[in-house]
Amino acid sequence: MKILLFGMGGQVGWELQRSLAPLGQVVALDYDSDKGLCGDFTNLPGLAETVRRVAPDAIVNAAAYTAVDRAESEPELARTINALAPGVLADEAEKLGAWLVHYSTDYVFDGSGNKPWRETDPTGPLSVYGRTKLEGEQAVARCARHLILRTSWVYAARGANFARTMLRLAQERDQLKVVADQFGAPTGAELLADVTAHALRGMPGRPELAGLYHLAAGGETSWHGYACFVIEAARRSEQPIRITPEAIEAVSSDAYPTAAQRPHNSRLATGKLQKAFSLNLPAWQEGVARVLTEVLGR
Ligand SMILES: NC(=O)c1ccc[n+]([C@@H]2O[C@H](COP(=O)([O-])OP(=O)(O)OC[C@H]3O[C@@H](n4cnc5c(N)ncnc54)[C@H](OP(=O)(O)O)[C@@H]3O)[C@@H](O)[C@H]2O)c1
Repeated sequence: MKILLFGMGGQVGWELQRSLAPLGQVVALDYDSDKGLCGDFTNLPGLAETVRRVAPDAIVNAAAYTAVDRAESEPELARTINALAPGVLADEAEKLGAWLVHYSTDYVFDGSGNKPWRETDPTGPLSVYGRTKLEGEQAVARCARHLILRTSWVYAARGANFARTMLRLAQERDQLKVVADQFGAPTGAELLADVTAHALRGMPGRPELAGLYHLAAGGETSWHGYACFVIEAARRSEQPIRITPEAIEAVSSDAYPTAAQRPHNSRLATGKLQKAFSLNLPAWQEGVARVLTEVLGR
């Protein structure tokens, strides 16, 4: 299988380079790749030409505009990267008869209620980021052989994410305030990449598997619960942590205003994916503990 991977330097893209390698030839690109190919999602003709030149069996798109608050003041750029560029990939993949794997987000929902969202539930994004990601999903579905994986609260040993921010702040401060009224499941880039490779292996010859799936680690927590878990792990590893878990104050979203509104309920029901691909999704604590061990150097 020949796979064209976009966004190779991001949290998920980095892990995909590892997990996709056993499937065949992987052509991996970043926005500034210089291999005579274009991975820049603001260059739509360049992207189309790149897909035609590589002629892959599958495209995996891990590139995205993920700066949720900044997107409020850069809506056109966010839309180009999150919706228009994936649409170009979809149209080119459709012409080739290739598969297109794309990632989306719990931010397509309005965050109401407390039940895990199913794939069939109505969307209602609260932010520019969420709206552009939803438009991206609709564009990707123009390719018949699409796999859209909606996920939540992504972390990895590298890149910008909540767990790494908490580790840094815990070394700098004695007290922290963390939002306790938003719920979801921290999901590892490793898990996303491994599930993607597993799914891709099973998809050729099975067009009925195309569609939209929710993919998140098992269980749920709040950002506050997640922060306590991270800090406790760091203290156990004898890192120079100033803060104690008791000094992490649980606050409401109102006490932490941000440019973009976040959903309160980011829980995702993952039964459809687990059944279709015969998968078990481990509890969020397993993946977070593993990455923390890596980051903390134990
Ligand atoms: N992070 C989360 O919590 C989260 C939650 C739910 C869903 N998702 C979705 O999961 C997917 C992967 O997210 P991630 O966490 O791996 O994000 P990430 O670490 O921010 O990676 C995104 C990648 O896209 C690249 N990129 C930005 N602008 C680009 C452009 N113009 N052309 C080409 N590439 C560009 C980024 O490069 P630079 O780093 O150089 O800008 C980065 O390598 C995305 O679809 C995201 O929407 C993420």
